[in-house]
This record gives sequence, C-alpha cells and structure tokens, in this order.
Amino acid sequence: MPQWHEVATLRDLRSRRKLAVTVGDTAIALFSIKGDVYALADTCVHEQRQLSKGAVLFGKIVCPGHQWKFDPATGEAEGQDRCQPVYPVRVGDDGVISVSLDRAGASR
Ligand code: FES
Repeated sequence: MPQWHEVATLRDLRSRRKLAVTVGDTAIALFSIKGDVYALADTCVHEQRQLSKGAVLFGKIVCPGHQWKFDPATGEAEGQDRCQPVYPVRVGDDGVISVSLDRAGASR
C-alpha cells in the first residue's frame, strides 16, 4: 500500500495552476493541466532549476532553465534522454491532494 501525504488542496492549486510543495526533504512541483493534477520532482534533472517556476505550454511543462519540455504524466523530456521523476497523485472528494513517494518514476 502506498503511503499518501497530503500536500495541498485543489483550491490552492487551481488558482495558480502550479505549486511548490515538500514531503519531508523531497521538493515536488504540482501542476493542474486540463483538469488533471500531476506531481513531478521540483528539481530539474538537467541543471537543478525549479520546475514549479516554469510554464505550461501545449500540455507540456517547460523548465525555466533551458526550456526542456516535460510530459507531465511520464516526466519524459522532449528530444532528451533524461526523464523527470513523477509521483502518483490522488485527489480526495474533499479536494485534498495527496502524493506518494513510494512509486516515483525512475530517472533514466
Ligand atoms: S535546468 Fe531544466 S532544462 Fe536546464
């Protein structure tokens, strides 16, 4: 059973569309894209810029460092051989967003 950590509410996220949160020492970037919630490592796999300070363009997350474009669901970077870790997310009926660190997508 994954361990879930409550990190934010839909209300918090929807107003800004992105949010930086932490679970213990792990920095996580939450994004609301087309009604779905995604959680990725906030520290970019390229040169450690903060993904939560990036933008969303055509459904991809654009890192503010060097504009790598990440798929929010898989963490795959368009045209690159590295992958941003992604985390399972669930949203409760009460709008509370929880993240699990147990099954993080692996970096390549
Ligand atoms: S630091 Fe993210 S693309 Fe370079």
